[in-house]
Amino acid sequence: MRHALAHPYAHLLKYEIREIVDFVAEVSALDPVLKIENENIGDPIAKGWPVPPFMKEILKAEIDKPGDKCFGYTHSRGNIDTRKWIVSYAKRFCPTVELDYEDILVTNGLGAGISILYQMIGDGARIIEPSPSYPTHGSMESFCSRQAPLTYKLDPTKNWEPDLDDLRAQLDAHPEIAGLLMINPNNPTGAVYSKETVENLVKIAEEYKLMIISDEIYFRMIYNGYEFAQISEIAKNRVPLIVMRGLSKDVPWPGGRCGWLEFHNTHLDSDYKALCDAVRKRVLLEVCAGALPQAVLPAIYDHGEFEGWLNQNNELLAHNSQVITEKLNAIPGLKVNRTNGAFYMMPIFEEGMLKPTQTLPIANEAVRKLVEQKVSDPAMALDKRFVYYLIASTGICVVPATGFFSPYYGFRVTTLTRDPAKLEMVYETLAKAIAQYLAS
Ligand SMILES: Cc1ncc(COP(=O)(O)O)c(C=O)c1O
Repeated sequence: MRHALAHPYAHLLKYEIREIVDFVAEVSALDPVLKIENENIGDPIAKGWPVPPFMKEILKAEIDKPGDKCFGYTHSRGNIDTRKWIVSYAKRFCPTVELDYEDILVTNGLGAGISILYQMIGDGARIIEPSPSYPTHGSMESFCSRQAPLTYKLDPTKNWEPDLDDLRAQLDAHPEIAGLLMINPNNPTGAVYSKETVENLVKIAEEYKLMIISDEIYFRMIYNGYEFAQISEIAKNRVPLIVMRGLSKDVPWPGGRCGWLEFHNTHLDSDYKALCDAVRKRVLLEVCAGALPQAVLPAIYDHGEFEGWLNQNNELLAHNSQVITEKLNAIPGLKVNRTNGAFYMMPIFEEGMLKPTQTLPIANEAVRKLVEQKVSDPAMALDKRFVYYLIASTGICVVPATGFFSPYYGFRVTTLTRDPAKLEMVYETLAKAIAQYLAS
């Protein structure tokens, strides 16, 4: 080529949740008999969750409406009626919220909203991310700033609460940090933050003059007696705040690709206002987000059966969180915090438990050779090595914790299985495999 074509920082884009799928495909090609259990992707539909019948009716009615509106483009920042509804939806949970519909941007899934936001952060400014955290944030922030992610620790010994001392230390060491990300309820830990925790983060943001990005895509999926602490209320008139929500998880409609950003407290700071305006400009280039999900979003959330549907799912997640916690906590050397929101759990290996010599039996000769070749890479993280053996030996696909910018070795599982017998079988097999790997 006349000039190098590939982006020199493409290596900073990491998304292990799906990268592991390529390995699974290699294993399956060599051993078609091995039954794969996908515990890696947070997709309720792929895990057999039914789409509620009322939602299908709403979609059919929208498609049949005269004028075929849902087949055309919408306003680039999002269908205006939908954005007005999003404002009223925010007020339903937090009546003091002051938002205009122009403070809302609808994007093609929250994933697109996250990417667009980080693209528009000014040169040199950094956003500090929790560690572990959902990799789209860390990857995009790191890619756009062309540097390794800056992170603050979540503490597995304290139910995955943010380590505020570590956060302060990072903020003191990096004056270029202009914003802080929190994910509540959390992916990958399943933690739900108390009002006090959110207040502490807001206080730190005030003190260090930071913007807060609050990813709340799971805010309706909370159980075990926990409640959602409304940051839009706690941070009102205090700090610049971007709230992120979407319909991939609670509805659930991940294939619909519809999420949104809410710009709160835009009056507080001209720099922050300039960022919001830059993001507003940037979305015009996307033309618009998918029209059908935008058209039906209010009718789905406002439907009389939605709350019951949600409660029933949250009860199932609460049950699964108990069952999985019990099974995995019984393994010496593994630390597990029960999931209280979202549908993930991140068990962590105690320090020194993983070694580069541990193995699991792999029945298929060709698969065994493939794994041995892959794990011979000395740079491979020890939890990824464990995951490769686990997949090849049992077919259970989980994601290594280091794929979430975690400083601790471990792995993330989903808690979405609906069939109790299957839940029992998968997690019993997983527990046995872990114990066997650690003892090998
Ligand atoms: C914390 C978090 N934010 C954002 C997303 C992206 O969601 P979407 O399907 O709307 O792109 C996910 C998806 O798993 C997530 O877990």
